[in-house]
Amino acid sequence: MPFHPLRVAGIDRLCADAVAVTFEVPPELSSAFRFGPGQSLTVRRDGERRTYSICAPAGAAPRIGVREVPGGVISRWIVHDLRPGDLVDVAPPTGTFTPDLAAGGRHVLIAAGSGITPVLSIAASLLERSRAGASPPAGWLGRAGRRPSAGVAVLGGAEVTLFYGNRRADTVMFAEELADLKDRYPDRLELVHVLSREARESELFSGRLDAQRLRELVPLLVDVPAVDHWWLCGPFGMVTDATTVLGELGVPAGRVHRELFWVDEAPPPPVRPEALVDGPTSDVTVVLDGRRTTVPVPDGVTLLDGAQKSRPDLPFACKGGVCGTCRARVTDGEVTMRRNFALEQAEVDAGFVLTCQSLPASPKVVIDFDQ
Ligand code: FES
Repeated sequence: MPFHPLRVAGIDRLCADAVAVTFEVPPELSSAFRFGPGQSLTVRRDGERRTYSICAPAGAAPRIGVREVPGGVISRWIVHDLRPGDLVDVAPPTGTFTPDLAAGGRHVLIAAGSGITPVLSIAASLLERSRAGASPPAGWLGRAGRRPSAGVAVLGGAEVTLFYGNRRADTVMFAEELADLKDRYPDRLELVHVLSREARESELFSGRLDAQRLRELVPLLVDVPAVDHWWLCGPFGMVTDATTVLGELGVPAGRVHRELFWVDEAPPPPVRPEALVDGPTSDVTVVLDGRRTTVPVPDGVTLLDGAQKSRPDLPFACKGGVCGTCRARVTDGEVTMRRNFALEQAEVDAGFVLTCQSLPASPKVVIDFDQ
């Protein structure tokens, strides 16, 4: 994963514990940093990496939303110490949680807390880019990584319903940006705030955005069969609750797109490769940027940890099965993926795995990061 020093063009405080950071991209890096709505940037500092979602609409300068998390060294530095003009090591955009802007259609977005960050980018891009006759921005790639063929105009105005759960009004990230969007697109954006620790005028909008509330709210405010795509982003509990409710409502799984922001469950304990050198190993071949490298990886060690010693350029960020940065395709052999909060079923069916969560399960394994 190549990192580039980008200058901070601006920092906006969103609420007490969150900021938005806009980066200046020099002309020679503009194509590398073109992003699709819903994608993320990885930031590196002192050997630590974190992935943050882009909140800007496609075609704008990259801007990430960062909320300070307890004990989070990088988020604390960004929220409290980073200043305009500073240089930050940033890797180009990644992620497949991104809509096909050329298709328009009806979209329902369900977000909680900082899960609003990619959802804001998706909502703004859909509303902005799907004005009748508008074309997707230069360099924009759709969900499957393909640019719509030349001359394909956007079909019509996309319609967006956004359910957004927070504790209180003063913890709402991007409150102003959302209100601006609503002002600009009053007929095509339905914005529903749900607050868990603050009374609202209706009981329906007070409380956690959990399965029971979604069971009541969604059929009341949305024509479920008419929705083309559902975008879920937030903590594990909210995303799984929403997935369950959409299943109950008969929504086909292929229309539901999910991005997790954090997982309460602890990751499986890491295993140090050195601890297992005397045990059985698998020959793992990694392909990245066209270069093949074969390394022995001890049983019980993840593909990423085992191969990183020889290939320090392998991409990763969270090492927790959440961000999807370490995704690669198994082209030979067998692996066991311990957990997966990032890949969709279609990707798993196509042979993609999270290398930070996958253990070798055959004597030879080949994984391709270039696919
Ligand atoms: S590094 Fe984040 S899922 Fe593997």
